[in-house]
Amino acid sequence: MRILGICGSLRKDSWNRKLLNNMLAATADKGAETSLFDLASVPMFHPDVEAQGIPPEAESFRDAVSGADAVVIACPEYNGSMTATLKNAIEWLSRRGNLMTNKVFFIMGTGPGRSGCPRMHMHASYSIESEGGYVLHQPRVLLPNVANFMNNDGTITDPEVTALLDQAATALIDYTNCLTDTG
Ligand SMILES: Cc1cc2nc3c(=O)[nH]c(=O)nc-3n(C[C@H](O)[C@H](O)[C@H](O)COP(=O)(O)O)c2cc1C
Repeated sequence: MRILGICGSLRKDSWNRKLLNNMLAATADKGAETSLFDLASVPMFHPDVEAQGIPPEAESFRDAVSGADAVVIACPEYNGSMTATLKNAIEWLSRRGNLMTNKVFFIMGTGPGRSGCPRMHMHASYSIESEGGYVLHQPRVLLPNVANFMNNDGTITDPEVTALLDQAATALIDYTNCLTDTG
């Protein structure tokens, strides 16, 4: 099974990218082939540009998603929603052959504050499900107060969070198998 990770934060020291790397490692431990795509290279969606043809950087992103059985997204909450980076990525996926249809997604989020990114999750799920994606909603990996469970180097320090990621990795692999092995 091929699992692609994308991070909705472009920040060099992004907590969400660190969380994503931990989740990808948990799926790799269960046999998944994992990769990361950096959204920093994806240009702003522009219908006039698209009319001339999808730019190569956006096409590379689309190819990465197309080649994956499931996509794991880690994204902070910005102003009560997902980041523009993630929404922009969704725009490119939706065009010229919508790549979200029948694709499995798992959306997670964290940050230093007291909120575990619930509005990011709600809005990102809504957009992806509107376009036919299958979002796995359980277990929830929406984690406030990141410094309480992760070091700056990305090491998880709370065994309950390690166990949660392990559980999420199993659930994602089972769900993806369910949806892709039915023939
Ligand atoms: C423009 C902007 C808006 C933000 N809005 C929210 C918000 O609505 N809710 C929240 O919990 N944190 C908010 N934050 C704080 C982010 O959660 C925090 O910067 C987080 O570390 C970003 O994730 P990252 O470490 O993966 O880059 C906001 C930060 C920025 C820069």
